[in-house]
Amino acid sequence: MQLLSSAIGRKVVMAATGLFMLLFVIVHLLGNSTIFAGPNAINAYAEKLQSLGPFVWAFRLFLLFMLFFHVIYGILLTLENAAANPGKYAVKKMLKATFASETMIWTGLLLLAFIVYHLLQFTVRVTPDVVLGNDAKGRFDVYTMVAGSLKIAPIAMVYVAAMVTLFLHLSHGIQSIFQSAGLSNDKALPQYTVIGKLLAVIFLVGYSAIPVLILAGILAK
Ligand code: HEM
Repeated sequence: MQLLSSAIGRKVVMAATGLFMLLFVIVHLLGNSTIFAGPNAINAYAEKLQSLGPFVWAFRLFLLFMLFFHVIYGILLTLENAAANPGKYAVKKMLKATFASETMIWTGLLLLAFIVYHLLQFTVRVTPDVVLGNDAKGRFDVYTMVAGSLKIAPIAMVYVAAMVTLFLHLSHGIQSIFQSAGLSNDKALPQYTVIGKLLAVIFLVGYSAIPVLILAGILAK
């Protein structure tokens, strides 16, 4: 309990919850990539996931907990840092600050807004753009739902903007996981920075390709 209330403890919570969500972002990108193989592939993938029943719900609940603690501790850390550095613009910082590292709270809150919107759209399926229906094999038609929404230009643009936000958040966030885990020394940190940036670029390109190719009429014509 004391760990959770100390400054180091808060960073560990941020890192651990961030790591689980990072794993989800990797798996979700792999799952979403089945859309490139056509309707049958992504609809079969979605059906397989749904058939896991209670495991899906346990996983969703777990992710929700991770998100909740990540957001709360992120806000706490930001408020604490602000209180500890009232004159932060007067002194030069010891650690190299980047645009991504300075804006973590804002990119984080924007991502939270995107996740709420995204869940209402594709998980709860209540936004007005959502196309509901079954495919020829009687499975829920995820392909038509995703394509139907992402071919609407403003929606595709919201998605690309969210992926740029995710890129900024993770390009600093991933290296922070290594730092908080105590794995980085002066020699290793630059390597972790490169790994973090590389992964963030892969997510940016991989996820953005879906709305961009749908909007361009190349995917899901
Ligand atoms: C082009 C980008 C994306 C597409 C096309 C996409 C598509 C989808 C679809 C179709 C679902 C519903 C799955 C189902 O119920 O069968 C879903 C759920 C979800 N997505 Fe995405 N997604 C994208 C990006 C993201 C990103 C970047 C994040 C996180 C930062 C994210 C987080 C989630 C979460 C948390 C769920 C709920 C998982 C669940 O229902 O168990 N998505 N997404």
